[in-house]
Amino acid sequence: MSENPNRNLALELARVTEAAALAAGHWVGRGQKEAGDGAAVEAMRLMLSTIDMEGVVVIGEGAKDEAPMLFDGEKVGNGFGASVDVAVDPVEGTSLLAYGRPDAISVVGVAPRGTMWSPGPGFYMNKLVVGRDARSAIHAGSLSAPVKETLAAISDALDKRISDLTIFVLDKPRHQKLIADIREVGSRVLLRTDGDVAGALMAATPNSGVDVLMGIGGTPEGVIAACAVRALGGAMLGQLAPQKDEERVAIEAAGLDINHVLTEADLVQSDDVYFSASGITDGVLLPGVHYTSEGASTATIVMRGKTGTIRRIYAEHRLDKLRDISAVPY
Ligand code: FBP
Repeated sequence: MSENPNRNLALELARVTEAAALAAGHWVGRGQKEAGDGAAVEAMRLMLSTIDMEGVVVIGEGAKDEAPMLFDGEKVGNGFGASVDVAVDPVEGTSLLAYGRPDAISVVGVAPRGTMWSPGPGFYMNKLVVGRDARSAIHAGSLSAPVKETLAAISDALDKRISDLTIFVLDKPRHQKLIADIREVGSRVLLRTDGDVAGALMAATPNSGVDVLMGIGGTPEGVIAACAVRALGGAMLGQLAPQKDEERVAIEAAGLDINHVLTEADLVQSDDVYFSASGITDGVLLPGVHYTSEGASTATIVMRGKTGTIRRIYAEHRLDKLRDISAVPY
């Protein structure tokens, strides 16, 4: 049965992440991650309020008391239109922003109400992400399988030598063994201090130069990444990986099963998902905000799960005009 083309929310979400990236752009390298994040949150919230949707933030800046805006449970959108879950990260990689490192991005994901998994008190998750050509190479057991076995299966699926694979890993002390195991296998490693949503985007995007994301990162970031992985047709596995006893106890008390391996389809249970990412600092997939005498430019990737359409939007912004009319400090 055919369907008539309908509204593509991803195009409106592009304006949301563009605004957050532009607001954060002024804070690159200034060593003040909270200030940069705050500016992006304010801009993102304002742009979300223009969109026809009845949104609820399910992955946000944290609980209401800690986060005055875009807190978990906050209603966003103008209240007309589809009921949706909204996942936001106005600055993904606040330290990347504060120190001017690559791949700080602004991201948002939207899916029908009730379809995004709630991490509850689980802060950390072990993740594995590949693009669609390597979907068949990973399965629930891959997260606990020896690295050599997992990478061998991915290299077969991609028809690439194992030494030609590039694996994105967060450069954290907890990953010492993982990094050593990857090096022993002979694959290349892209180490980044922060930003595993960007890492997941790279791994799920064909021919990005990164083939796989491995390792433990934030759970909210896992749900946001899953929006993009679903839309890109890639595959993702995630399993809660508490880093402290209190976290483990809280997860158990909330009735979440620590042994359960979730896929991208468990993390976001609908194909009708939208995702947008704009670059703040220059990165592998996206240039950051660049300033000119006239204003600034932004680069954005937007995607829609239902159709699989990916768009790259390059925008030029006249900051002199925007400053006259907008509440956002452009
Ligand atoms: P922020 O944007 O909140 O600074 O998070 C950056 C990040 O690197 C995420 O990409 C990642 O999932 C998480 O932090 C890892 O957490 P930690 O730094 O505690 O290991």
